[in-house]
Amino acid sequence: MSGKTSNQASPRMAVAVLASGRGSNLQALIDACAKLDFPARIVLVLSNVPGAQALRRAEQAGLATAVIDHKQIGSREAFDKAAQEQLVAAGAELVCLAGFMRILTPGFVAAFRDRLINIHPSLLPAFPGLHTHERAIASGVRFAGCTVHYVRSEVDVGPIIAQVAVPVQIGDTADTLATRVTSSEHHIYPQVVRWIAEGRVHVQGARVTIDGAAAPAAVYFNPQPTISVSAKK
Ligand code: GAR
Repeated sequence: MSGKTSNQASPRMAVAVLASGRGSNLQALIDACAKLDFPARIVLVLSNVPGAQALRRAEQAGLATAVIDHKQIGSREAFDKAAQEQLVAAGAELVCLAGFMRILTPGFVAAFRDRLINIHPSLLPAFPGLHTHERAIASGVRFAGCTVHYVRSEVDVGPIIAQVAVPVQIGDTADTLATRVTSSEHHIYPQVVRWIAEGRVHVQGARVTIDGAAAPAAVYFNPQPTISVSAKK
């Protein structure tokens, strides 16, 4: 994949977004792309669900939309072929899954290898699949979060680009935890798209490096310790 489009008149990376539902992550990307210094633009919003709120958000923003109704089209292969044709016709250089609740065929994933990213509401590899917040709370983990990763053929698997850790609070319900995690998604997804569009993201096997992006020095406890621990004995 080239880091940026070579078209001098339109240097911003052409991004397509695939969404099935509410579209709050799409909205975060729309809002980011509205900023003059953002290095990407949305060329297509594609949904498998006619009437999805994500499509309304796209239309309100004046974006091109496409609907491929998975209930009408028949096979998974036919859906993915039609989607691929739309993405290629739109000139998409990067495809962002944003609440796109369909499994993609290996052929589709291969066609967009390292140009296809997903956001998932857990700290992968913990809790792939559905009902992540219920499962996180039931498991007793102290941190939940979200992950942006390159897509591979297995569901919710692929080189991790970025994660946000979010504390699980006593008394959290799936809804309260989801609100906290979703808010973190809206920060990290546009940030990752920016890094990719700037050509700073490199994949090597399972690992991803991002030029100029450092890990935080801090260590986070949950719960916060109430005793101080001396470093020397
Ligand atoms: C988001 O929480 C996203 O991480 C999740 O669906 C939600 C979509 O919300 N995606 C997955 O679970 C994919 N495995 P949105 O439609 O408001 O962006």
